[in-house]
Amino acid sequence: MHCNYYTGFAGSDDWRIVQSANADKGKIMDMNGVAAIVTGAASGLGAATARALADKGAKVALLDMNVAAAAEVAAEIGGIAVQCDVSDAASAEAAVGDACGIHGAARIAVSCAGIAPPGKVVGRDGPQDLAVFANTININLIGTFNIMRLVAADMKALEPLEGGERGLIVNTASIAAFEGQIGQVAYAASKGGVASMTLPAARELARSGIRVLAIAPGIFGTPMLFGLPQDVQNSLGAEVPFPSRLGDPAEYAKLVLHMADNMMLNGEVIRLDGALRMAPG
Ligand SMILES: NC(=O)c1ccc[n+]([C@@H]2O[C@H](COP(=O)([O-])OP(=O)(O)OC[C@H]3O[C@@H](n4cnc5c(N)ncnc54)[C@H](O)[C@@H]3O)[C@@H](O)[C@H]2O)c1
Repeated sequence: MHCNYYTGFAGSDDWRIVQSANADKGKIMDMNGVAAIVTGAASGLGAATARALADKGAKVALLDMNVAAAAEVAAEIGGIAVQCDVSDAASAEAAVGDACGIHGAARIAVSCAGIAPPGKVVGRDGPQDLAVFANTININLIGTFNIMRLVAADMKALEPLEGGERGLIVNTASIAAFEGQIGQVAYAASKGGVASMTLPAARELARSGIRVLAIAPGIFGTPMLFGLPQDVQNSLGAEVPFPSRLGDPAEYAKLVLHMADNMMLNGEVIRLDGALRMAPG
């Protein structure tokens, strides 16, 4: 076990970690017993990914700000929930360390934690609050990098698998990285950063047998979207050429599984959007 930041699991009194009673859930297929970390796993795309990885037999650590909600998903799938603010160095070091201490170093890490606050450069009340812009960059971009740097350090110390592979990192961009709409300037900037770091990170980590990929989802049916009125959700879905609907989080998770299964995929941002190209908004 190589855990650069493991400080020791304090046991059941440690409020940051919730171990499920269901931890020996049956394992199947080639992810059997592999440790995985998913951020933003309490909800939406992250929760679907955690479920899909656990279905394949992975030992999943679900990192989220909302540890109570993450614990519910963890209980369902026999994983562990760990409290984590991905934008905070110490919090992420502790969370990745604790996950590693319990499951061993992750071979698969998927970053889904993110926020999408709307805001124009200049809105009705004047220039955008700089704190809103900075917070979006902090969570979506710096948070994604924060997890990547920590999991990569642990992965580098793992024994290579057949074919020389040590691990896979999947980050979540958005089609807003390419077609950000009016009101998405902070979000688009954060996701553009996630997309841009894919190739240099993949190039650097290639020598260690670690692949880095990003998924750029279009519009998916998650709590992030369910906050919108139903008619807005319907019209968003109708804009997707085919299939004309919101994406299912399970479809995102399927792409993660395929990425894990296909070693030739590396250094790329893959759109998952039903051919949607966003209008200016
Ligand atoms: N739903 C979509 O249509 C869509 C489209 C493109 C990209 N994305 C991206 O996919 C990712 C997942 O989105 P979702 O739709 O599942 O959203 P969601 O709101 O359902 O889930 C996001 C999760 O991230 C967690 N989170 C937020 N800030 C955090 C922090 N600082 N540290 C740790 N956890 C934090 C939340 O608690 C939540 O559980 C996000 O990065 C989002 O930008 C979503």
